[in-house]
Amino acid sequence: MDARRIGDVDAQAFVIRRAGLADARAIAEVAVAGWQAAYRGILSDAFLDAMRVDAREVAWRERLARDVDGGAPAWVAERAGHVVGFVSSGPPRDEDVPLPASEIYAIYVLAESWRQGLGRSLLQTAVAHWRAGGARTLVLWVFEANAPARAFYEAMGWQPDGGRQALELGSASAIEIRYRLRLSA
Ligand SMILES: CC(C)(COP(=O)(O)OP(=O)(O)OC[C@H]1O[C@@H](n2cnc3c(N)ncnc32)[C@H](O)[C@@H]1OP(=O)(O)O)[C@@H](O)C(=O)NCCC(=O)NCCS
Repeated sequence: MDARRIGDVDAQAFVIRRAGLADARAIAEVAVAGWQAAYRGILSDAFLDAMRVDAREVAWRERLARDVDGGAPAWVAERAGHVVGFVSSGPPRDEDVPLPASEIYAIYVLAESWRQGLGRSLLQTAVAHWRAGGARTLVLWVFEANAPARAFYEAMGWQPDGGRQALELGSASAIEIRYRLRLSA
């Protein structure tokens, strides 16, 4: 499950590996850059511009620490030793999701590495992990207005399952919809 996997895209190799606590800072940097690149026009500029890597690093350190028993794994994509993407996952937060199930909490790739297969490799790594662990359903939440990410998930075989909620983030608010992937044994 923790095997390192090499992708060779446009002669620029990347590696997918399991994330650890030491990756909290790099993940926070990719997350903040990702929010600021992908959510302009979805969330307010004021909210996005106020995002700070330091604060996100603390949150990611806590989240990664919860993976002590392997129950909430994240993986990073590295290029030339630098983290350029990540995916995090764990138990589903919604009670209406049929078990056994897991959730993809976040997936981000730095904008300069978009459309080079890193997102696909990250998501496939997480899906393969949870399939091997017995999950039959995977879910994730995405902003309804995030058309590129929705196209990505649909290309990966995910479909909207009717779930819908308003996400309140301080001064910002946006509608999220839930996507689902059914896994065969
Ligand atoms: C969504 C995201 C993770 C996808 O990662 P990526 O590395 O760019 O995706 P891949 O190159 O692996 O794309 C795989 C396939 O998904 C589809 N796809 C990916 N991005 C797409 C886009 N912008 N528009 C349409 N289809 C897209 C394509 O079918 C693509 O295959 P192709 O390039 O051979 O046509 C990345 O764009 C990202 O970080 N976006 C900003 C953050 C975000 O919105 N995350 C989701 C939060 S819920």
